[in-house]
Amino acid sequence: NIHLIEKPPQEHDAVIATLPHEPVYERPFSIGHPLRLYKGVWIAEKMLQGALVMQQCFKSHPTDIFLASFPKSGTTWLKAMTFSTLTRTNCSLDKHPLLTHNPHQCVPYMELEFATGRRQIIDVIPSPRLMSTHMPYFLLPDSIKESSCRIVYIWRDPKDVLISAWHFAQKILGGPDKMATFDQFYEFFCQGLYSFGPIWNHILEYWEESKRRPEKILFLKYENILQEPVKYAKQLAHFIGCPFSKTEENERVVEQIVELCSIKKLKDFDVNKDSDRATSSTDVRISKTYFFRKGEVGDWKSHMTPEMAERLDTLIKEKFEGSGLQI
Ligand code: A3P
Repeated sequence: NIHLIEKPPQEHDAVIATLPHEPVYERPFSIGHPLRLYKGVWIAEKMLQGALVMQQCFKSHPTDIFLASFPKSGTTWLKAMTFSTLTRTNCSLDKHPLLTHNPHQCVPYMELEFATGRRQIIDVIPSPRLMSTHMPYFLLPDSIKESSCRIVYIWRDPKDVLISAWHFAQKILGGPDKMATFDQFYEFFCQGLYSFGPIWNHILEYWEESKRRPEKILFLKYENILQEPVKYAKQLAHFIGCPFSKTEENERVVEQIVELCSIKKLKDFDVNKDSDRATSSTDVRISKTYFFRKGEVGDWKSHMTPEMAERLDTLIKEKFEGSGLQI
């Protein structure tokens, strides 16, 4: 709603302008706003503004549910699954909002809403409020970390994240000729130079916190959900406080939600074939179609040389060492 829009905040612009800037490269590799290095994390200037405002003024409710992810790790899917699970008693599947709305229109992206002066949107979400973030755990407002609200985190093999990110950037920047080469994009990604990078710190922080407080953070892996969607849909429903009843299970409601949220189904809805923006609150043109590509495991094999894959795997293994986490 237009009346909810206030002036985009600028209070942190001066500080942000002093932070290390992404390296100058002959062709763009980051999408939209340039990346700045803030406390070891590369963040687009605008999102950092939103994150800092959010840190100052966001008040979490104990019933809030946050969907957290590194970009291109399955956020769209997690949004669709959680939204349809939460709303299943008041939205019949044949008239479901996901038939007419992209998942990103159903679940607000926190730092973007705060960055663009739309923070009041958050206040009008019915309880339990469902919201999403790409922020690393340590940058979340204390109010989220300290309250009993819940966080669902999704992660994915970083090699497939990189490939997904590469295709996403091509769509936004206008094709492979308009951006850094794949080899260069790969190098940057391995240096942590991608929105909210480095990816390994992002995953590890949520992992460590989920081990410490399993009742607070549900840590899910994209590849596992793809393999056993019904099992994870039930786990998700249980975690967010609305488990499927025996009657629902017998009526195959879980399977219907899984089907509704499958990439095949979502991609085919007219709303998601629309080249219109997924959300009006960003000046970077991100069409609704951009969020659906293949949705497969191992697409990196058709883009990376075995040496590139091995180098990234070794890097991640070193970073994950001792954590108990494996790709
Ligand atoms: P690929 O580019 O490998 O196909 P995010 O939602 O975090 O931006 O991640 C985008 C990735 O999730 C893309 O991966 C996209 O195709 C995939 N995706 C989108 N919707 C999905 C769904 N409903 N089920 C499984 N994967 C999905």
